[in-house]
Amino acid sequence: MRVILLGPPGAGKGTQAVRIAEAYDIPHISTGDILRANVREGTELGRKAKSFMDAGDLVPDDVILGMMGERLAEADAKNGFLFDGFPRTVPQAEALEGLLIERGQPIDVVLRMVVDAREVVQRLTGRRTCTGCGAVFHEAYDPPQAAGVCDKCGGKLVQRDDDAEDVVLNRLEVYRRSTEPLEEFYWGRGLLRDVEAVGTVDEVGGRIDTILREHA
Ligand code: AP5
Repeated sequence: MRVILLGPPGAGKGTQAVRIAEAYDIPHISTGDILRANVREGTELGRKAKSFMDAGDLVPDDVILGMMGERLAEADAKNGFLFDGFPRTVPQAEALEGLLIERGQPIDVVLRMVVDAREVVQRLTGRRTCTGCGAVFHEAYDPPQAAGVCDKCGGKLVQRDDDAEDVVLNRLEVYRRSTEPLEEFYWGRGLLRDVEAVGTVDEVGGRIDTILREHA
């Protein structure tokens, strides 16, 4: 199973990706998570990416493509993968297509998670992320049992730097300008399927399962 999750910031891509990766036993490959880990560890890649991420802008395509070329070459990506946050521009999608043709690994389906901007702002400004295991909560929609503490590992919950409202609004604009054109790209290839991303996490997951079962 080779799946791309497309959708604006806060659509719930990460939330659903964890469930899909477990259900279909494929690696969840999130460019945002890989970049944040590099920023935390202070690598050269992290230093290159940080200022773009803090502003809510996209990290340059050549940086992302180098990083993803290496990630795809890892053994666990041989039998499938779930991309979350990649590709994000038409040049990234074209480069990915070339790479996957070379590897004989075409994409099965691109799931576009549909949610409006107002909901996105509420979701992201209330999101809390665990500094220990990366688990994601929401102050109102999915609160942890004890405020500020991760239910899963006891780690500290924080707000991501790019979840401040002004940065979220820029990320939405960047999505509209740079990533929405991918919808036409994948529509033209017959791969795009819409998922209504509003409702409970289980309801959205059920809609995704219905589509993925057609490809399993
Ligand atoms: P990235 O980490 O990919 O961020 P994003 O795409 O903006 O997505 P988010 O992680 O913000 O949202 P999500 O859709 O995963 O939502 P989540 O499930 O957490 O990228 C960050 C930055 O890295 C970019 O700005 C860019 O700088 C850089 N970058 C990354 N990839 C790049 C690329 N390919 N090229 C260039 N630059 C790149 O859910 C959000 C909240 O909502 C949570 O609190 C959750 O609990 C809650 N929630 C989830 N589902 C529901 C529901 N059904 N109902 C109510 N609440 C819900």
